Amino acid sequence: MKLIIAANWKMNKTAAETAAFCREISRDQKHFEGVDVLICPPFTALSSAAEALAGSVIKLGAQNMYWEAEGAFTGEISAGMLIDSGVEYVILGHSERRHLMGEKDEEVGMKVKAALKNKLKPIICVGETEEERKNGATEVILERQLGGALEGLDSDQATGLIIAYEPVWAIGTGKAATADDAESAGSFIVQYIREKFGPDAADHLRIQYGGSVKAENIGSFVALPSIAGALVGGASLEAASFSALIQSARKAVLH
Ligand code: 13P
Repeated sequence: MKLIIAANWKMNKTAAETAAFCREISRDQKHFEGVDVLICPPFTALSSAAEALAGSVIKLGAQNMYWEAEGAFTGEISAGMLIDSGVEYVILGHSERRHLMGEKDEEVGMKVKAALKNKLKPIICVGETEEERKNGATEVILERQLGGALEGLDSDQATGLIIAYEPVWAIGTGKAATADDAESAGSFIVQYIREKFGPDAADHLRIQYGGSVKAENIGSFVALPSIAGALVGGASLEAASFSALIQSARKAVLH
């Protein structure tokens, strides 16, 4: 399974900072062989990133989108607009959108359908809060979030999905999940996909772990049977640390 490592910059970097980062990291791309690497800047820096990454193996993703194609939806961005900016991937249902902006499971589902219809590759985020984990509700939450996000998809549409498991308590805290916790959530997600959409969808599924990932701990996640990459926040903001992280991941799966 090819690793997929994505930089989620959240609300960070101007267009000029983005271009500088992209030029810097592109110099290391020969060390990224066998890994899908993508950068997800804010909307305002997408065009600048696309221009700076032209001819590079590094791909472009967005952090959100709306499900309608166009119209009176002030402040929203459509799949077509993302494609027009050079985007191939889109992060959907990130926990910050769910918890800070009140995004609902059904809305994530509508976005996933719209992304797939437009041939954008969604990165669907799921994950429990600390409270939910304490209450033993992790799998119930994952099942509910997956149910909403994947509602109405057929097996063909569900083949080749990317799902990011990001426990909320591990995001930006420096307290990453243990390998056991990540594998237990990852294998639960694989099983869910197998039961709902069949073996082909389960075999082609790529699960990323997200939450305080850095060069020092990425190896323990990508070595897990169910995990094929990472969604990285803080450690993706500097080209040198993101490049080091990608190279550690590569080493961990090669050896
Ligand atoms: P950190 O890597 O900063 O913990 O953020 C994780 C995240 O939310 C990626 O989407």
